[in-house]
Amino acid sequence: MPTEQVNAPAAAIDRVAQLRKEITRHAYLYYVNDSPEIPDYEYDALFSELKSLEDTYPDLIVPSSPTQTVGSAILSSFEPVVHASPMMSLGNVFSEDELREWMHRISRLDDEAAASSLVVEPKIDGVAISLVYQDGVLAQAATRGDGVTGEDVTANIRTISVIPWDISDSSRKHRVPSYLDVRGEIYMPVDSFKQLNKVQIEKGLKTYANPRNFAAGSLRQKDPKITATRPLLFWAYQIGSASNEVANSQTEALQYMRDCGFPVNPEIRSVKNIQEAVDRCLELQEHRHDLPYEIDGAVIKIDSFDLQNRLGSTSHAPRWAIAYKFPPEEKITRLLAIEVSIGRTGRATPYAVLEPVTVGGSIVSMATLHNEDQVKLKDVRPSDMVIVRKAGDVIPEIVGHISESRTSDSKPWEFPDRCPSCGGPLVRLEGESDTYCITMDCPAQKIQRIAHYASRVAMDIEGLGEKRVDWLVSGGLVHDLGDLYSLDRDRLVAMSGLGDLSVDNLFHALDESRQRPLYRLLVGLGIRHLGPAGARAIAGEFGHLDAVMDAELDELSEIEGVGAVIAQSIQRFFAAEANQRVIDNLRKVGINFGETAVSSASHYHVADSLSGGSGHYVAEAGSKAGGVAEAGGGSDTGIAQTLAGKSIVVTGAIEGFTREEVEGLIRERGGKAAGSVSKKTWVVVVGRDPGVTKLRKADELGIPQVDASLFREILETGELIEP
Ligand code: IVH
Repeated sequence: MPTEQVNAPAAAIDRVAQLRKEITRHAYLYYVNDSPEIPDYEYDALFSELKSLEDTYPDLIVPSSPTQTVGSAILSSFEPVVHASPMMSLGNVFSEDELREWMHRISRLDDEAAASSLVVEPKIDGVAISLVYQDGVLAQAATRGDGVTGEDVTANIRTISVIPWDISDSSRKHRVPSYLDVRGEIYMPVDSFKQLNKVQIEKGLKTYANPRNFAAGSLRQKDPKITATRPLLFWAYQIGSASNEVANSQTEALQYMRDCGFPVNPEIRSVKNIQEAVDRCLELQEHRHDLPYEIDGAVIKIDSFDLQNRLGSTSHAPRWAIAYKFPPEEKITRLLAIEVSIGRTGRATPYAVLEPVTVGGSIVSMATLHNEDQVKLKDVRPSDMVIVRKAGDVIPEIVGHISESRTSDSKPWEFPDRCPSCGGPLVRLEGESDTYCITMDCPAQKIQRIAHYASRVAMDIEGLGEKRVDWLVSGGLVHDLGDLYSLDRDRLVAMSGLGDLSVDNLFHALDESRQRPLYRLLVGLGIRHLGPAGARAIAGEFGHLDAVMDAELDELSEIEGVGAVIAQSIQRFFAAEANQRVIDNLRKVGINFGETAVSSASHYHVADSLSGGSGHYVAEAGSKAGGVAEAGGGSDTGIAQTLAGKSIVVTGAIEGFTREEVEGLIRERGGKAAGSVSKKTWVVVVGRDPGVTKLRKADELGIPQVDASLFREILETGELIEP
């Protein structure tokens, strides 16, 4: 609170201080938390009381007073702010050698550098910000601008809930200086960004290029209410200046900011020498995509402020810090063609065929273009040079094209009107963004449908992956699901060139699948919107496929976890004649339509002779699940605690889930979503583009690894299928 000499009576000084605290708290609850504790008129009354006290005693006015700062008026422009000390940039290095050279260079300037401790911090790919606190209250927030002058974005920054408004109380350990400039980075978590783009795609709107641009755009909103809806976060990493010394080293400064209530990145490490710094940089590089935010490098800082001061700065960057930049994850390559793939529901998805290019450590030769509107919005055309982006577990995507690369005769790409697989019509219904092949017996759909039926989430037929299904369908051996069970062994051997053992294994796996419980069959049928959880609930309720087929709409939609959309989809599915034929055929070949598998054992059962009677164990995960779910059903959320006490590491992308969702799903079930593999890890779920270190560690420790298709299964059953 103000320390200046004022002419106001003590009572007024006290009341003003009290009002400011209260108003700040209520404004925070209102603007940031969106959960006011008092009605607007009470807030207004406090505000006008403060205002009139300040009018009476103008000496009491300080820049940090709510009357001077709070308010969410729509801004017409962002006022320029001259930073008290310039917001410098950093020198860059691009390799281990260059990083060591930096250390040599500064050691020549000051020989203490070579022996000094360092701090290695993730280099957050966000927007730099300076937060000025006066008497512990956030008074002004400014962007970096040109380093000397930035823009005042205080009103927008106030909407970011992790940024404290008042640090005068939060830091009991320290006295807060009357002036404190905390610097750091505003960023948007990767998952929120993916979700945002998913919604954009669903709405047929253009996707955003990257989280950084989106965060920057969010800070430049004229209406803070819009910024308030954006999921922005903040990491503090530097003290720009302070009216009295708060730390003697970067380590102390970080601790100080932590104590004041600022988020400080837990990945920051103090290291003893440049070798350890190099090791940490490489570690961060390898794990960059395990972090829920984007980093584009590491920042290495000399720890001691004394030494920092002695080393000083050049005109634009400090000598005592350096940025180690990771290799870029955006590359330019040629778009060779745009093709369309047909999924099992007939959805026609355009994708880019690219001249193969290494992006972010893996070779990319294809990238989804989602749907017709996205191709139009991105305006990419065959033979364009395009920017391909791959941010870790994000599926490679096309950011846009390089306009200079385009020849004058280039024409916009047209969505084909015929299915590339069956030649039938491709139809896009009005108001929908997706296009479908509507031919029932389209081979591409057939292949996808059968492969889905055989997949691990469904009937789990080992050895029957997409390639083999493609071969069976294209060779005319299989037309629908039932045909799988009447394959002619000799013909298969003769045509496939498969060895006796492989064919035996396939037949055995097929045979086994006849006994799968109903929920797996329901999943295997590929009814739109129906996943394993809903299938399980329905199977539990009806107990037999015939009962499900006869069920009324209400009976289905009343089941918990089912609802109207799934219920309608189920009815529509069974009403289609073609589907009824598929089901009749499955009945004829003896597929179990009942809830419990014929081998109802809630234990592993030994497969018989075909695998040589050598004890090939197959877990009936499905039948076990019921028991587990019941046993663990006592949680507050009502979600079965299938993973109670289990530590699961997920590495790489799991289709259909964001990382946050994956972790949430594990936690909801009582499990721990661990970030690294240890002896305590129960299982490692390996998604797309997994972390090499995690896999290596799992190998070393003998931790079971399963592929991502088993993820849902594990969640539901809390069991591992033995390989
Ligand atoms: S320190 C004088 N630490 O990188 C040193 N910067 O290329 C000031 N950045 O403008 C910066 N993470 O926006 C520092 N842990 C970190 C950082 C970081 C990201 C950004 C910052 C700066 C840019 C310099």
